[in-house]
Amino acid sequence: MTTEQQSPENESALITVRDLWTRFDEFWIHREITFEVRPGESLVIIGGSGSGKSTLLRAMIGLLRPERGDVVVGGLDVMRSSEPALYELMRRVGVLFQFGALFDSLAVWENVTFGLQDRKLSDAERRRVASEKLKMVGLRGVEDLLPGQLSGGMKKRVALARAIAHDPEILFCDEPTSGLDPVMSDLISELILQMNERLGVTTVTITHDIATAYKIGDRIAMLYDGTILVCDTPDGIRATQDPIVRQFIEGRAHGPIRGEVAEETSTPGPGGRAG
Ligand SMILES: Nc1ncnc2c1ncn2[C@@H]1O[C@H](COP(=O)(O)OP(=O)(O)OP(=O)(O)O)[C@@H](O)[C@H]1O
Ligand SMILES: [Mg+2]
Repeated sequence: MTTEQQSPENESALITVRDLWTRFDEFWIHREITFEVRPGESLVIIGGSGSGKSTLLRAMIGLLRPERGDVVVGGLDVMRSSEPALYELMRRVGVLFQFGALFDSLAVWENVTFGLQDRKLSDAERRRVASEKLKMVGLRGVEDLLPGQLSGGMKKRVALARAIAHDPEILFCDEPTSGLDPVMSDLISELILQMNERLGVTTVTITHDIATAYKIGDRIAMLYDGTILVCDTPDGIRATQDPIVRQFIEGRAHGPIRGEVAEETSTPGPGGRAG
C-alpha cells in the first residue's frame, strides 16, 4: 500500500479487515487483505473482474467464512459470530448486491420493504416507506409492478431503495452503477454521496466505474492479485505511478505490464507466500 496506509489496530475504525485469506478449492482469492473504514467514510474498492471484490463484500457481511483473518464490523467479530448476532448487525447494514437479488414474485414495494417485516409496520406504512425510498432513487409509480416488468437500471435502483429502506448506518454497494446510462450512473453516485455526506452513512462501494470511484470515494482501494495493491485518496490515485493502477484507471487491457514477464505462479496459502 502507498500513502494513507492505515493501522489495522485503529480502534476508531467502523470496519476492520485484517490479514484476510480466502480460497475456493485450491485457488486463493484473497491473500492478506488488510484495510479499515472509519466512521462516516466513503471507501471505494476497485479491481478487475474476478479480482475478488464481491467475495470480499460477502466476507464483510458474514455470508462467507474466509480461511483466516479478522473482519470486525460495528464492533462485531463477523467471522466468529453466531447467526443471531449477525442478524442484529444486518439491521445496521444495508447491502446492494451486484445482481440486485430481487424477489421475482413480490411487487416492488414489497421488495423494498422486505427487510422491515420484523418492525410490525402496517402495509400502508410499508408502502409509504417504499414510495419515499423509491423517490430517493428517482423512481415513481412503480410500487405495484413486479421485477420482471422493470428495466435493468430500474431493478438496480429498486435494489438500492431496498438497501436503504431501514436507514442503515453502513451501506455496502456492489456495482451500483453497472448497466446504467451515464446520467443515471451519476444520479446513483450522487445519491450514495448524499447518504454519506448528509446522513453520515459509512459507505463501501465496489465499482468498475472510475468516474464513480473518483466522485464518491474519500479513499479508493485497488484489489489486485489477492491483496490491496494501493489505498489512497482520489487525488493520490490520479497521480499514482503504479503501472498496474494506471493501466486500470486508464482502461487499458489487462495483461503483463510492459517490461514484466507473466509468471506461472501457484498461489501459496497463509504463511507460505512466495518471497
Ligand atoms: N462460490 C464460489 N465458488 C468457487 N469460486 C468462486 C465462488 N465465488 C467466487 N468465486 C471465484 O472467485 C473469484 C472472484 O470472484 P468475485 O465474484 O469476488 O470477483 P469480482 O471481483 O467481484 O468480479 P466482477 O468484477 O466480475 O464482479 C472468481 O475467480 C470467481 O470465479
Ligand atoms: Mg463482483
